Amino acid sequence: MANDTLTITDNRTNATYTIPIKDGAIRAMDLRQIKTDPEDFGLLSYDPAFMNTASCRSSITFIDGDRGILRYRGYPIEQLAENCRFLEVAYLILNGELPTARQLEEFEAQIKAELAVPENIKRIIEGFHHDAHPMAVLASTLAALSTFYPDAKKVRDPANRRKQIIRLIAKVPTLAAYFYRYSRGLPYVDPDPRLSYTGNFMKMLWKGLEPDYQVNPVVERALDILFILHADHEQNCSANAMRSVGSSEADPYVCAAAATAALFGPLHGGANEQVLRMLDEIGSVENIPSYIEDVKNRKRLLMGFGHRIYKNYDPRARIIKQTADKVFEVTGRNPKLDIALELERIALSDEYFISRKLYPNVDFYSGIIYQALGFQPEIFTVLFAIPRMTGWCAQWDEMMGDPEQKIARPRQVYIGYGHRDFVPMDQRG
Ligand code: CMC
Repeated sequence: MANDTLTITDNRTNATYTIPIKDGAIRAMDLRQIKTDPEDFGLLSYDPAFMNTASCRSSITFIDGDRGILRYRGYPIEQLAENCRFLEVAYLILNGELPTARQLEEFEAQIKAELAVPENIKRIIEGFHHDAHPMAVLASTLAALSTFYPDAKKVRDPANRRKQIIRLIAKVPTLAAYFYRYSRGLPYVDPDPRLSYTGNFMKMLWKGLEPDYQVNPVVERALDILFILHADHEQNCSANAMRSVGSSEADPYVCAAAATAALFGPLHGGANEQVLRMLDEIGSVENIPSYIEDVKNRKRLLMGFGHRIYKNYDPRARIIKQTADKVFEVTGRNPKLDIALELERIALSDEYFISRKLYPNVDFYSGIIYQALGFQPEIFTVLFAIPRMTGWCAQWDEMMGDPEQKIARPRQVYIGYGHRDFVPMDQRG
């Protein structure tokens, strides 16, 4: 472009400034030169909830929210979901390129060598109440891994970072499965490196007394697709937590615990559990109109609808809907699907949702499949966290290698009292 600059006139002083524009963005620090006098701190940009602030330059995930496009490293999510296994996509997200057969084999071998967790983790898990929320347990046990791997503190060493990333991706299903077994009073099932990433997870969850657990290939493939869809989503709340905590050079285990905590919230990954609870509360199709009225009267949110970035159908929701049909052929149809489909139909024809561009997001249909696959709602968000570990790690690694990044430390616009002198207690009114 001829002149990639922005000219700003400060009407307080009539001074004019020219600021460069790069990749459609100005640097907030360029505003600092805009001052009313030399003592002035300089102009800040105020952006609660980062509605219009890019915190990094990233080459991992691309989203065009208006057109409903999601790509990992340039590849459309639809093509990856159709053609890849989860670890193939994990390799792509971490390394920037799809693996060759040999690279994938090596990567899988590295992951499989790290599936086991330290024995003491079992005792930590056993300290929790059996009905503790699995996301709180996951955050706690991820943080606990920090105590077993003190070498993880060398976060400036790229090779060391890679070692910890492999450990995190490998161990997160084991942490989740061990708590799942403990919470049901079942003996732990050790990881089985002969199986795929998802097949092993299924075995650790569901193996009974049969001598040789057989992984159902339809369920395994469905879980693999769900894992691919959840692997990364650029600068969302939990990725931002991972980067923000990581910027202080904390080790990746405690960073991942922070990201897990962010994901737990019902406005983020916790929405998948809430969607199921909402469908249970609605109970049947006839109750949908009154539920929608409550949503429009702001008494509640329609969980699984809306997104900060997507102002169109979330492409992940579309793939999940298609996958659901294949799963239901094996598991039988989840009756909640009818409620969800009708809820979507009504919502998408209602002015409230149309005018606000509120469409189903990834969490709207995922819970229905998870339930059909045999999962309880409390574990749904854990099923989001397991694959998202890859994205968190890639985001963290990218940040640590980015010379422009420093400790994350936002500014504030102070609106409290000015100076005032201390008042002794007996003089306070
Ligand atoms: N139900 C009803 N109204 C909604 C909803 C909803 N689910 N989502 C947004 N709105 C309304 C909101 O009240 C606001 O209306 P108005 O302009 O009249 O005040 C308008 O739509 C814009 O919403 P917002 O809250 O400013 O949007 P946001 O970008 O801050 O929030 C969101 C995004 C995902 C937190 C929000 O849409 C929401 O709470 N959805 C329900 C929870 C959910 O499904 N979360 C999963 C997100 S996808 C998976 C993930 O990445 O975590």
